[in-house]
Amino acid sequence: MRVVSGIQPTGNLHLGNYLGAIRNWVRMQDSLEDGAEALFFLADLHALSQPHDPAGLHAGTLEMVAALVACGIDPDRSVLFNQAQVPQHAELQWLLNGTARMGWLNRMTQWKDKAGKNREGQSVALFTYPVLQAADVLLYQATHVPVGEDQKQHLELARDIAQKFNNDFCPEDAPVFTLPEPIIPAEAARIMSLRDGTAKMSKSDPSDMSRINLSDDADTMAQKIKKAKTDPEPLPSEEAGLAERAEARNLVGIYAALAGQSVGDVLGEYGGQGFGTFKPALAELLVTSLGPIRDRFVALKGDSETLDAILARGAARARERGTPTLDAAYRALGLVRH
Ligand code: TYM
Repeated sequence: MRVVSGIQPTGNLHLGNYLGAIRNWVRMQDSLEDGAEALFFLADLHALSQPHDPAGLHAGTLEMVAALVACGIDPDRSVLFNQAQVPQHAELQWLLNGTARMGWLNRMTQWKDKAGKNREGQSVALFTYPVLQAADVLLYQATHVPVGEDQKQHLELARDIAQKFNNDFCPEDAPVFTLPEPIIPAEAARIMSLRDGTAKMSKSDPSDMSRINLSDDADTMAQKIKKAKTDPEPLPSEEAGLAERAEARNLVGIYAALAGQSVGDVLGEYGGQGFGTFKPALAELLVTSLGPIRDRFVALKGDSETLDAILARGAARARERGTPTLDAAYRALGLVRH
């Protein structure tokens, strides 16, 4: 078993990242059996796909390392690194560019959403970054990739690329790549914006009121929940009653994910009650769940020497882990490197 996943280091870690992905990273790290390994990385090369601020990228990367360690990623047990220090990612992407098809990339919903009507004006990197993402996991023979629902399509692409490469270039009994499985948490696959229950909670939303950030203090979190968009109806007692109520469903889903309960259990307790009762309970649960993480994050984030050292050590280990697969890919393609 090899667990691999990544996160973009631009912007804050928010509740969607935490419940959709990072909490699962920590759980998987903590339950690994002997011989299994987990690698987690900051996808800093992905920042180039959209306009970015070079001056802020290193600081954002270190801040994200602090956030991940605060959430429970242990750099002694997991390999924690950033892509830019492991050139094998970019190298393997180039090798996989020969296998990935334009039509596959054209179908990526994230590409369609981000490019909108202005495809011609986008960077080539925005179009091809799902191939880098495939390289990110295939380089390490990942078996399990814990992600939120929005990354599922990219993981399917990684499987398609791996399969085609194996078919085209490898003997049947000696494939170069392992097909990775996405691991998506049922209860928090897609956390939505607090301002619009039909849009996912995201770092790129211009309104900070749309998301809970790990760095928010208790008052800010409570304020954001208080101001979260809802409707005037009390909560239903059955899950079916949430079907047409995106905002209510999102808040109940967040409560359930944080409390480790099912949506049905939460409605069993709060069904028939209004948001005047439910919102303060949710705010309190958020503060007690995220408060300790926030405190660790604040304590760590200024210590750039320690954070840089974590990345340097992680990158050395990642380069070692990735080299055999990269060499095998070069060989399979007939590229000789003496
Ligand atoms: P990123 O940085 O947007 O998000 C990191 C992780 O958080 C999950 N996530 C969510 N889950 C539930 N609800 C939400 N509202 C929400 N928002 C984000 C994402 O699904 C993701 O798991 N391209 C990736 C980073 C990446 C990667 C990889 C992931 C690069 N290479 C290889 C896995 C494997 C990204 O932009 O995630």
